[in-house]
Amino acid sequence: MINVAIIGIGAISPAHIEAYKVFDDLCEVTTLCDIDLTKAREKAQSYGLKKVPIFKQFEEVCSDPTIELVSICTPPSTHAHIAVELLKSGKHVIIEKPMAASLEECDLINKTAEEHNKIVSVIAQNRFFTPMMKVKKVLDQKLIGHVLHSQVDSFWWRGNCYYDLWWRGTWEKEGGGCTLNHAVHHIDILQWMNGMPTEVTAIMSNTAHPNAEVEDLSVAILKYEDGSIAQVTSSVVHHGEEQQLIFQGEKARISVPWKIHASTSSANGFPNKDTKTEQTIESYYHSLPPQEYEAHVGQIHNVLHAIKDGTTVLVDGKQGRQTLELITAIYKSASEKKTVSLPLKSGDRFYSKESILNHTIYFNEKTFQVDDFETDSITTGGEYGK
Ligand SMILES: NC(=O)c1ccc[n+]([C@@H]2O[C@H](COP(=O)([O-])OP(=O)(O)OC[C@H]3O[C@@H](n4cnc5c(N)ncnc54)[C@H](O)[C@@H]3O)[C@@H](O)[C@H]2O)c1
Repeated sequence: MINVAIIGIGAISPAHIEAYKVFDDLCEVTTLCDIDLTKAREKAQSYGLKKVPIFKQFEEVCSDPTIELVSICTPPSTHAHIAVELLKSGKHVIIEKPMAASLEECDLINKTAEEHNKIVSVIAQNRFFTPMMKVKKVLDQKLIGHVLHSQVDSFWWRGNCYYDLWWRGTWEKEGGGCTLNHAVHHIDILQWMNGMPTEVTAIMSNTAHPNAEVEDLSVAILKYEDGSIAQVTSSVVHHGEEQQLIFQGEKARISVPWKIHASTSSANGFPNKDTKTEQTIESYYHSLPPQEYEAHVGQIHNVLHAIKDGTTVLVDGKQGRQTLELITAIYKSASEKKTVSLPLKSGDRFYSKESILNHTIYFNEKTFQVDDFETDSITTGGEYGK
């Protein structure tokens, strides 16, 4: 039995608690930890964990030798410090997105994990939805040919008061705005599907959230070594939150949510519908089995089996770092108003958190904050159809 602790018993923690419960033959949540003990006790009651001990300091989790795996569900600026200490004390870690607040912090986490031979998995639950897995397989089989253009619409909507929470809306504690904390899900998928670009050009703005230093809208153009291009829009100002990823290949266009179009050329270069290609790809897509476990449940299943069977996790610390590298490149390009070349390495002006704080754009001053909201009911996207 794998003994599990969860640190940070806030809005996202139920997704972890519920997922671990699905695999009660493999694991058990034996410890909770939060600096706010009252809140943690209330959550423990409502999720049937009232007998589970609750620690106030994460160091107490480190020094409990019975705990093997820890979910870190605290604000982004705390992830690296907590993860590194847990890894040093011999625990495997699942880190909520984003992996950390800087590439320097990601590198430290990955180095520590390697030294202590422990697993790091960064939450990217959208990968585990059936349509994402199926589109990844269609791309990997090269059924649409070479990808020429990708379009990522990471459209979310959040009201003004969203940024009133004490750790949100500041570069220091949240680490960034919608590009880091919302589009991270789709940027992770883009780099999983397409690999890493060599150039990023971006602009960002704060259009509608006056109590946030960070951006609420960014648009980035990514260029790959082979000349193909991707465009990524990250937003918390889009009513309807119509999220999609579209891949335009040489032979066809596919997307999540699923849709396919294929064209062949007529004698003068204008498009004719390529029904045969559409049918071939469509039937391959529909022949693929659905995911047994989706979202957080799917990713936690993946990590539990990695611990039990020695398999590798789908979203490891290297993947978490690559996603953060793309996001950091967007921030650097938008802040410096120029195209940024990848990879971003140690010594770069946007490598360390301290340096990011000195060089990024502060859109507004955060003048008001609350310790908590009356409700912590949240939505996490994932309306991707079948
Ligand atoms: N995967 C997703 O879809 C998704 C959705 C929402 C949030 N998140 C991520 O989950 C993390 C937490 O977000 P949330 O919305 O649950 O925030 P939250 O504010 O609701 O909860 C965070 C909890 O961490 C506790 N905490 C803060 N510092 C701590 C420390 N040093 N030690 C122990 N506890 C500490 C706070 O008291 C709070 O209860 C963030 O990284 C966020 O980006 C992920």
